[in-house]
Amino acid sequence: MPIVAPSILAADFGNLARDVEMINKSEAEWFHLDVMDGVFVPNISYGMPVIKAIDDLTDKILDVHLMIVQPERYIKDFKEVGADVLTVHYEACTHLHRTIQAIKDEGMKAGVALNPHTPVHVLEDVIRDIDLLLIMSVNPGFGGQKFIQHTYEKLTQASLLIEQKNADTLIEIDGGVSPGNAAQLVQLGADVLVAGNAVFAAQNPLEVISGLKNS
Ligand code: DX5
Ligand code: ZN
Repeated sequence: MPIVAPSILAADFGNLARDVEMINKSEAEWFHLDVMDGVFVPNISYGMPVIKAIDDLTDKILDVHLMIVQPERYIKDFKEVGADVLTVHYEACTHLHRTIQAIKDEGMKAGVALNPHTPVHVLEDVIRDIDLLLIMSVNPGFGGQKFIQHTYEKLTQASLLIEQKNADTLIEIDGGVSPGNAAQLVQLGADVLVAGNAVFAAQNPLEVISGLKNS
């Protein structure tokens, strides 16, 4: 069964505690938290204080997705506000290996995200060092976008790479995930499904989460 990680970007920020409570009661195991700096991506979301507030309201895993330049500057800060999994973008790291080690040295799981244009094979030499490979299935920056079909091919390549290198890496799919494509994603090797709009814009979010879980 996949891990389901609802993306708080699509929550109602005026009623954040209520939405967190809803996820607490759901079958979702992780919270997906999108940090955007207006430089790496053309949008600004939220940062440490919001993550800290969510950490105070839940015992679930906090999966923090950094869409920021020079993420190595903030590794300690995200640990301090409760991040359990910290994911940086391949495209934002000049010394990716060092950044991965620094995340693990802080006691967090280390993830690396790939933009839609970045091929999977660039991670060949670090795949055994990372706990999570996040494949972006939309261009990062906004929720509610259309799933890019080429992602299926990348997912197959990622599964193959992990198998070839005998790595212990989870594959996460982020962007445009819905009950309509979840089963195929899981079948091709997705371990973690991020879902923003599919969950929070639904009439019955708990039912959608349960559906994703049983994909
Ligand atoms: C996009 C973010 C996603 C986003 C997903 O830049 O990384 O996590 O919240 O939202 P949906 O599921 O609505 O595409
Ligand atoms: Zn994300």
